[in-house]
Amino acid sequence: MKINPGSSRSLRLGHKLILVIVFVVALSSMATTVLFFVYGQDIVRESIWTDMKKLLLNKDEQLLSHVTRRDYWSMFRIVQSLSSSHIVDSAWIMDKDGYMLAHSDPDSYPVLSKSTEALHADISHQISGVSGSLGTLYMEINGAAIASSLAPLKKLVYLGNFLVLTISVGFACFFSRHITRRFNRIFHEVQKAARGHPGDVDEVRFAEDDEIQRLASELKHAFHGLADSLENTRFAQEFYNSVLSTVPDIVLVVEADGTIIYANAQHEQLGYPLHQLLGIRWQSLFKQTPALQPHGDTSSGWLTGEGVVSVNGRKFPALITLSTLSSYDIVAIQNIETVKALERQMHYANTFAALGKLSANFAHEIKNTISPIRLLYRIDHHTEQDIAIMEQSIKQVDGLVTKYLNFARTDTAVSDFSVRMDRIALELLSLHDSQVQEKQLTVKTQLEPAPLYYNEEALRSIIKNLLLNAIDASPHGACIWLTLHTRDEQVVLTMADMGEGISDDDKERIFEPFFTTKPSGSGIGLATVNHHVQSMSGHMIVRDRPEGGAFFTVILPKNRQHTFNPEKLQPLPES
Ligand SMILES: Nc1ncnc2c1ncn2[C@@H]1O[C@H](COP(=O)(O)OP(=O)(O)OP(=O)(O)O)[C@@H](O)[C@H]1O
Ligand SMILES: [Mg+2]
Repeated sequence: MKINPGSSRSLRLGHKLILVIVFVVALSSMATTVLFFVYGQDIVRESIWTDMKKLLLNKDEQLLSHVTRRDYWSMFRIVQSLSSSHIVDSAWIMDKDGYMLAHSDPDSYPVLSKSTEALHADISHQISGVSGSLGTLYMEINGAAIASSLAPLKKLVYLGNFLVLTISVGFACFFSRHITRRFNRIFHEVQKAARGHPGDVDEVRFAEDDEIQRLASELKHAFHGLADSLENTRFAQEFYNSVLSTVPDIVLVVEADGTIIYANAQHEQLGYPLHQLLGIRWQSLFKQTPALQPHGDTSSGWLTGEGVVSVNGRKFPALITLSTLSSYDIVAIQNIETVKALERQMHYANTFAALGKLSANFAHEIKNTISPIRLLYRIDHHTEQDIAIMEQSIKQVDGLVTKYLNFARTDTAVSDFSVRMDRIALELLSLHDSQVQEKQLTVKTQLEPAPLYYNEEALRSIIKNLLLNAIDASPHGACIWLTLHTRDEQVVLTMADMGEGISDDDKERIFEPFFTTKPSGSGIGLATVNHHVQSMSGHMIVRDRPEGGAFFTVILPKNRQHTFNPEKLQPLPES
């Protein structure tokens, strides 16, 4: 904002004000003078005639002297008496046909003559005698007399004009100085704002509480408001600049068509100087235009996706986040080369660690299971009991290998056919009814129809392992709750029991393969369940029932694109 020095401006304003006022006053006095000169003589004549009328006419506008029909002598006396005044040069009366009836000058006394064209009259007036209309009375006024009667008036007009002009100039000077002085004080304050300090603008106080005072007050409030928002903007700018310069991501501001109009310092990772980067489309930085998906809750307005930046000889995998502002979009490009490498390393490390642990546990289990066989096969003569023990051990090894194979299966969890999970649950309940009866347990179910497009064996394995664990954990005569609900895009399975529950330490380990606290357990059940749930993009939660016992929740997306949302977690069912 730039404002020129206020004083010279306001002086010009003052001059203009003076000029306008003086011009208006001069114009009006000129008009008065012109009017005076144009109509002044008429006014004088009118006043002369008014005086004359008092001498000649009665209130009915009839001649005072008893002029009868064409009483030339009387008429001559009238005109004679009129012309004897120094104001009237000559006077005459003519009848309606233009015949001269009487004239004040005997030399020009063309009685009954019709030649009246040469006569010039200043005043004319219809007159009547006792017997009706006589004709017209004409008078030629003495010009010098009129001029002399106008002279004092003229002086008065000149003097009046001069006085009016002088007063108006004085008043204009005072008025304009007064206004410009007040404006100058306001400008002085405005200049503070123009120099970048709107917060320093003070309110100017005047004696008069008028529009200029209100303007001064409003300006102060406006500039202080501006100062506040400037302060906020400066803070926001500094904050965002520091955030933008410290974030490791490349942040681009792009127009609706993707054209880059701003880039933070991290753009150097692209190997482009800033001026070359501006104006190109952000999508052109990628080998293939990345496909962006709504991030989490669609109302957040964020899109994310992965792509490979391939530009200027540089190539790296990147995570892209696009958020839409009112007029621009913000594109954040995160180099995930290191993350990917770490992920790969972690994956290998985890795989090897898991494989090592799994193999060790598996070997240990097999070794334990076949140890009776190893001891018994050296004996020459086997009793039936020995054979039964060996058979049992072989069965156990077989079961262990089957479980291991099930766990290690990498079948795709998705199926082209829908499977009713509620029906699977009912089948499993009847299959394991003998175990339920053995412990005199009660199984309470609430099963909604839940068709899912997942591998049937995987779904069966999930319910079966949870059910068997619940049966194992339940004391004699206890209750087990099995529910299956569908809501929005999810299917929620819960399994609760009245057992001892799971300690916090064990909760962290129960999904590890071969973790078991049971003498005859293999510890593969929950690892298998977890493996299947993960492969279905689902989620598993283990909690304690408030009254004791374990409470397992499995949330599976009906459609695999909808993943678990912890905010929509179902509360614990009433016991
Ligand atoms: N409902 C439950 N109540 C208490 N503890 C449980 C429950 N379910 C699982 N656990 C604990 O988690 C451990 C691991 O369970 P998991 O099903 O993986 O193996 P397992 O039942 O011991 O053997 P298996 O491989 O035969 O299933 C169990 O040994 C037990 O300690
Ligand atoms: Mg189990």
